Amino acid sequence: MKKNTLTITISAMLMLLCIVITGCKCDNKNGKNYQIKDNVIVFDEPQRVDGQASMLEFAAEPMPVVRVGFIGLGMRGPDAVYRMTFIDGVEIVALCDLLPENVEKVQRDILEAKGLPRAAEYVGETAYEQLCERDDIDLVYIATNWQTHVPMAVYAMQHGKHVAVEVPAATTVEDCWKLVDVSEQTRKHCMMLENCTYDFFEMTALNMAKLGMFGEVIHAEGAYIHNLEPYWHEYQGNWRLDYNQKHGGDVYATHGLGPVCQVLDIHRGDKMDYLVSMSTPSYNGKKIAKEMMGTDDFANGDMTTTMIQTHKGKTILIEHNVYTYRPYNRLYQLTGTEGFANKYPIEGFTLMEKNLPEGFLEEGQHLNVHGFVPKDVRDKILKEYLHPVAKNVEELAKQVGGHGGMDFIMDYRLIYCLQNGLPLDEDVYDAAEWSCIGDLTRASIDNHGMPVQVPDFTRGDWNKVQGYKHAMK
Ligand SMILES: NC(=O)c1ccc[n+]([C@@H]2O[C@H](COP(=O)([O-])OP(=O)(O)OC[C@H]3O[C@@H](n4cnc5c(N)ncnc54)[C@H](O)[C@@H]3O)[C@@H](O)[C@H]2O)c1
Repeated sequence: MKKNTLTITISAMLMLLCIVITGCKCDNKNGKNYQIKDNVIVFDEPQRVDGQASMLEFAAEPMPVVRVGFIGLGMRGPDAVYRMTFIDGVEIVALCDLLPENVEKVQRDILEAKGLPRAAEYVGETAYEQLCERDDIDLVYIATNWQTHVPMAVYAMQHGKHVAVEVPAATTVEDCWKLVDVSEQTRKHCMMLENCTYDFFEMTALNMAKLGMFGEVIHAEGAYIHNLEPYWHEYQGNWRLDYNQKHGGDVYATHGLGPVCQVLDIHRGDKMDYLVSMSTPSYNGKKIAKEMMGTDDFANGDMTTTMIQTHKGKTILIEHNVYTYRPYNRLYQLTGTEGFANKYPIEGFTLMEKNLPEGFLEEGQHLNVHGFVPKDVRDKILKEYLHPVAKNVEELAKQVGGHGGMDFIMDYRLIYCLQNGLPLDEDVYDAAEWSCIGDLTRASIDNHGMPVQVPDFTRGDWNKVQGYKHAMK
C-alpha cells in the first residue's frame, strides 16, 4: 500500500473509531468538536442510545421526605444548607468538602446551632463518590467549582440520585450533552440552580408576560455585570480566575439568560437557533492575573456581548463583565409589542392602560407610553402581579434570605416539586441550553463573530410543550 493511501486509511479508521466511541462526528482538521458549515459553526451532537428517553416534563415518584447530601461548602454551599433547614421534610444526611474545616463549620454553626443532628462527613477530592454511593440520599446538591460539576453530577445520577448543581452546570457543549444523556439514561433529575429566575422582579415580570401585559415579547436582555475584584482571592485554589484566564467567551451567562428564556418559552414552543458573540481584549482581567498568577496571558475579554436569535425570530442580548468598575447589573429587560419591563438600574414598566384591569389606576390617572409608569402604579403592580409561586412563600423567603429571598424560593420549589412528584421548574435541557453559552460564544469570538448554531438538547422535542409554567399540585 502506498504511504498516502495508508495515511488516509488510518485517518478514516480513527474517524470511525471516534464516531463509535463518542457517537459524534469529530472534525479532525481543526481538532475541535465543531465544524463550519455554510459559514455557521455547528457543534457535534451525539445520538441517543438504546434505552435513553426524553426527560421533558419528567416527574419522579413523590418523596415526602427528601434526604440531601451537599458537596462543596465554600462561600456558596453553607447558605444552601442553612436555607434547607427551614424547609419541612428535608433531612440533611451528609456533607462533603475538600477541607475538613469547611465541613466542621457547617456542622457547628448551622446544624448544631439549630439543634439538628450532625451529618455524615466526607472530606477529600474523591470523597464525594462515597457520599453518592450511600443508599439513604435522594438528592445531591453540588456547590463546588465549575470544573467539578459534571463528574460529580454524572456520578450522583449513575448512583441513583437526583442532582441540583450550581451555575453553570457545565462549561463545554460536550459536557452539556453528557448531563442530558446521563439524566435521560438514569431517569434522574438534573436541575441547575439558576436562582435569578426566582427573583421577585423577574417573577413578577414573568407572570405579567404570561398574562399578555407586554403584548408579544419580541426582544429580551440579560447580563452578568459584577466586578469580582473583592472576591478573586476568596475562591478555593483560585479556581475562578484560573478558569477565566484560560477561557474566553461568556463563561457565566446563566443569570442573565435563564429568566428571559422562561419568558420566551425556550424549548416550550420556541428555541434558540444561533448566536454571534464579540469580546473586547482583556485589560483589567490581565492586570489581576499578573498580580495573582504571574502571567501576562488572559483569555477572557473584559466585556463580552452576545446576540441570540430564536426560531421565531426573537432576539436576546446577553452581556458578561466581571472586571470593570460598573454598578452590579443583570439588565433583565423585556421589550414587548405593548409594553416594557426593566430591572436595572431602575425597576420599572411601560404599559398600555388597556392591559391593566379596570379600576387599577386612580380616578383620572393616565399612563405615559413614552415613560415608566408612576412609582405608585409600579409598586402596586409589583405587589399584585407577583407570581403566585413567589407569593406563596414571600414572607419566609425574605426572612431566610439568600440574595433577598430568591435563593430560598429556588430551594423551596425544588423540594416542593420532589415531594409532590412534579416536574422541576428548570429541567436538564435548561441546564444544558443556558450552560452551553460559554463554549458557543468562545467559538464565535475565535472566528471573528461567526454565527454558531445553538444545539437542540431536546433532540427535536422543543415544540412539544407549549409555554413555560411552574408545576403545581
Ligand atoms: N447562583 C449564585 O448566585 C451563585 C453565587 C456564588 C457562587 N455560585 C456558584 O457556586 C459554586 C461554588 O462557588 P463558591 O463561590 O462557593 O466557590 P468556593 O471556592 O468558595 O467554594 C467551592 C468549594 O468546593 C470545594 N471543593 C472543591 N473541589 C471539591 C471536591 N472534589 N470535593 C468536595 N468539595 C470540593 C472547595 O473546597 C470549596 O469549599 C460555583 O459553581 C459558583 O458559580 C453561584
